[in-house]
Amino acid sequence: MATGMWRLLCCMTLLFTAVASQANTSSSDWVKNYLDTLSQAKKANTILPSQLVFQFKHLEFEWPCEYVKEFYQEKGLYDPLENVLAGIDVYNNDTFVTVYRTSEKVSSGSNKLVVNNGMTSLQPFPNLTMNQAGKCSNLQFPIKSITDPNSGCMYIIDIGSVKKMGNSSEQTSTSGNTTQPCPPKLVVLDLKKNGTIVRSHDLAAAEPRSTSYLKDITLDYGDRNNTQVKHAYITDSGNQLLIVFNFDTNTSHSFAHDSMKSAAQQTATSGSKNAINSITVDSEFKFVYYNCLGSQKISQIPTAVLQDSLGDFATKHRYVGNTTVASGSVVCGKKGLYFASVNTSSVYRWNITQDIEVQNATKETVTMKNQTVIFKNGTGDYNIEGLALDSSGYLWLTQSPFILDSNNTKGINFKIYRLSVNDTNILCPDSVAPPT
Ligand SMILES: *[C@@H]1O[C@H](CO)[C@@H](O)[C@H](O)[C@H]1NC(C)=O
Ligand SMILES: *[C@@H]1O[C@H](CO)[C@@H](O)[C@H](O)[C@H]1NC(C)=O
Ligand SMILES: *[C@@H]1O[C@H](CO)[C@@H](O)[C@H](O)[C@H]1NC(C)=O
Ligand SMILES: *[C@@H]1O[C@H](CO)[C@@H](O)[C@H](O)[C@H]1NC(C)=O
Ligand SMILES: *[C@@H]1O[C@H](CO)[C@@H](O)[C@H](O)[C@H]1NC(C)=O
Ligand SMILES: *[C@@H]1O[C@H](CO)[C@@H](O)[C@H](O)[C@H]1NC(C)=O
Ligand SMILES: *[C@@H]1O[C@H](CO)[C@@H](O)[C@H](O)[C@H]1NC(C)=O
Ligand SMILES: *[C@@H]1O[C@H](CO)[C@@H](O)[C@H](O)[C@H]1NC(C)=O
Ligand SMILES: *[C@@H]1O[C@H](CO)[C@@H](O)[C@H](O)[C@H]1NC(C)=O
Ligand SMILES: *[C@@H]1O[C@H](CO)[C@@H](O)[C@H](O)[C@H]1NC(C)=O
Ligand SMILES: *[C@@H]1O[C@H](CO)[C@@H](O)[C@H](O)[C@H]1NC(C)=O
Ligand SMILES: *[C@@H]1O[C@H](CO)[C@@H](O)[C@H](O)[C@H]1NC(C)=O
Repeated sequence: MATGMWRLLCCMTLLFTAVASQANTSSSDWVKNYLDTLSQAKKANTILPSQLVFQFKHLEFEWPCEYVKEFYQEKGLYDPLENVLAGIDVYNNDTFVTVYRTSEKVSSGSNKLVVNNGMTSLQPFPNLTMNQAGKCSNLQFPIKSITDPNSGCMYIIDIGSVKKMGNSSEQTSTSGNTTQPCPPKLVVLDLKKNGTIVRSHDLAAAEPRSTSYLKDITLDYGDRNNTQVKHAYITDSGNQLLIVFNFDTNTSHSFAHDSMKSAAQQTATSGSKNAINSITVDSEFKFVYYNCLGSQKISQIPTAVLQDSLGDFATKHRYVGNTTVASGSVVCGKKGLYFASVNTSSVYRWNITQDIEVQNATKETVTMKNQTVIFKNGTGDYNIEGLALDSSGYLWLTQSPFILDSNNTKGINFKIYRLSVNDTNILCPDSVAPPT
């Protein structure tokens, strides 16, 4: 303690000497600068090793044959410049990605990455037919998937129609039927059987469907002795709802709350772009955490409240704290909560255990304080949309540009990194420890 204090003083003296030589720096400025420098230095030490696993200038798809590709292009159903990487899902050694179905020119929303002759392309998953928009039993706009490592079942949320990003009123449909989009749905595919459909449920709670815009999903086993998904929690940013799907009854219900609206909207009533966004459940399946896109607040709600359609949401909801940067995707591992920054291309980890100890608190009362940057690469021109933990100790992320470099001046548009976090997906059995 005493040694640390001396070092700090020593350091401040050096810094003061350096700063004082700059003529017009006021003393409060240098204190601020000092603290910034200190926190940056601290942060720098926390960056974990990362590996660039895949990169794409433009997203290239694998086609059954050249003729099919030409057909899609002629019909205006494929244009590489309209394809933007969204979510990521890792199962065993397979990487699955979703592509925003923000235009009819996105031929497949759900895809598996395949490498042929050193070139990575997106193979429509489970196949191209299942990704054809217009027929409601197909995937229309699969925005996010999570694969259960125990069963090998992939849970996909489908927005229900081709829609412009963030603006649910602008939508098109391949069938030209804009008045009746397909219902938002939850589709389960069995990866051990080449992606055959296990179940598909229209989400009755995602209404009105014309304004619904699903964003994220998290899966709940109920307790750690179970390996069967009991509930799914889904965010609907368009309708500003938290939807609960019960796999025993095959029914859904929803909750609405001020914390699901963007800050501006809690006082006004227009625009839903920055509403409820990402969602994740903790490894004990006791609490769900969610945020609004670009918000610094993280919300917490007990799973027990969510599971009861009459649950007292307003009383049991609480904000756990403020993130140091505006947040995008959030995901819980067994050792902490990870969140991406929307505009600095970085990922942070909240060490919940540490804060519980330091604050002598419980999960019900802890405040989010210990946030450390664990990934920082690239500029604020890129957004980290996909964030997923695998079973082998890695956190995976997708990095997409806010503006696609269609003029080929900047090089790589899309990157997929994995970083070694020594943590696993919450659904992994506890007997599986990440390799160290
Ligand atoms: C994944 O790949 C690694 C090395 O390529 C291999 O050792 C491992 O067995 C694979 N795991 C699965 C589940 O296929
Ligand atoms: C749109 O869909 C609705 C319901 O499926 C149907 O009644 C209507 O005729 C369709 N309109 C067009 C233009 O296809
Ligand atoms: C999956 O597809 C491959 C290739 O199409 C086939 O060889 C294999 O038998 C299929 N497996 C199952 C479980 O259907
Ligand atoms: C595409 O995948 C779906 C779901 O697994 C399956 O039912 C269908 O038969 C497949 N179609 C083709 C053409 O392979
Ligand atoms: C899991 O099962 C064990 C043995 O039956 C039991 O002691 C433990 O309390 C259970 N844990 C939970 C979270 O239910
Ligand atoms: C988050 O920040 C706001 C405004 O700075 C503050 O009022 C609030 O108490 C903070 N929340 C928590 C849980 O620390
Ligand atoms: C989180 O905090 C706990 C308690 O202080 C500590 O033991 C653990 O190593 C920390 N985890 C990480 C990943 O830093
Ligand atoms: C921590 O909290 C518990 C229960 O609130 C209390 O009994 C205990 O004295 C506290 N410990 C410390 C070190 O403050
Ligand atoms: C978070 O915890 C780490 C590990 O104990 C510690 O070094 C760091 O100072 C803490 N950071 C904050 C912001 O509390
Ligand atoms: C950032 O990523 C690039 C690959 O895109 C890699 O070469 C570089 O080492 C990374 N930088 C840091 C600080 O991790
Ligand atoms: C591409 O180049 C054209 C012409 O120079 C320019 O107008 C356009 O803004 C550029 N687009 C991007 C995305 O940089
Ligand atoms: C990973 O975490 C385990 C505890 O869960 C710890 O024993 C081990 O030392 C950690 N490995 C590294 C490389 O930090």
